[in-house]
Amino acid sequence: MSSTDARPDPSGGPQSSSAGAPPPHRALGVDVGGSGIKGGIVDLNTGQLIGDRFKLLTPQPATPPAVAKTIAEVVRHFDWTGPVGVTYPGVVTGGVARTAANVDKSWLGVNARDAIGAELDGQDVVVLNDADAAGLAEERYGAGKDNTGVVVLLTFGTGIGSAIIHNGKLLPNTEFGHLEVDGKEAEHRAASSVKEKHDWSYKRWAREVTKVLVAIENAICPDLFIAGGGISRKADKWVPLLENRTPVVAAALQNTAGIVGAAMASTTDVTR
Ligand code: BGC
Repeated sequence: MSSTDARPDPSGGPQSSSAGAPPPHRALGVDVGGSGIKGGIVDLNTGQLIGDRFKLLTPQPATPPAVAKTIAEVVRHFDWTGPVGVTYPGVVTGGVARTAANVDKSWLGVNARDAIGAELDGQDVVVLNDADAAGLAEERYGAGKDNTGVVVLLTFGTGIGSAIIHNGKLLPNTEFGHLEVDGKEAEHRAASSVKEKHDWSYKRWAREVTKVLVAIENAICPDLFIAGGGISRKADKWVPLLENRTPVVAAALQNTAGIVGAAMASTTDVTR
C-alpha cells in the first residue's frame, strides 16, 4: 500500500527557481519506522517538504534486504539521483547498525549504507539514528530554533530515542533511552509503550518521565528538552505535570522531523 498526493518536481540535479524567490536547496530524507517507510524532498532553507510525503508499509519481517528494497522504492518514486539520508532506530556508526533494541536482530553489524546504496545503483546514502535526525530538524527548524544552548530531544514511542545538539552540531548516538534510572532502563520505565501497557494515566506516567529527565539533567545540564514521538501531540496533557528543572517543550515538526533531519544529514555523515 502506498500513499501520496501529488508528485513533486523530480530533483537531485541542478535546482531551478521561480523569478525573485531564492532557489530551494533540496535534499531527500527517508524515515524508517516500525509500520511505515516515509520519504520526502525537503527545502533546506525552510525545513518544509516540497510536495508530499510518499509512504510504503515497512515489510514484515523487517530484515535488512527487505527494508533496503523498500527504501529504494521510496527514493525512486521521487526520481531522486542525489545523496539520500535514511534513519535507523538504533546506534549507527559509519553506516553500520550497531544495536537493534526494537528492530529485527538481523540488522546487527549490517552496513546499512552499503545495503541501501546497492539497491540504488551506488547512489550515496547516509544512515543516522532516528532520534538524531529528529533532533537535528527540531533544533534548526522546530521547537529548538530560538535556543542557542544545549538542546536534548527525546522521542517517546516503543522505546525512548535521544539527541543532543549544541549550536547546530549533533553529538550522535547518545542512547539515553538505555540509561539506567532508579534500577531500570529509561525506556522500560517511561516510553509511551509502557504507559499503554499499564494503562497508566498521564499523571502516573509523568512521574516516570520526570525521573528520566532528572537523570539526564543531573548528568549534562541541557538548556531545553524537546519532547517528541506520537505522544507529543498530546503534550498539553502531560508536559505541565513534569517536575524536573529544565524547560520542556513539545516537538513542532511532528511526523516530518525524521524526514527533514535525514535530508539535512544526507550530504554529511553525521555518525563519523
Ligand atoms: C534505540 C534508539 C532509538 C529509539 C527510538 C531505542 O530503543 O536504542 O536508538 O532512537 O529506540 O526508536
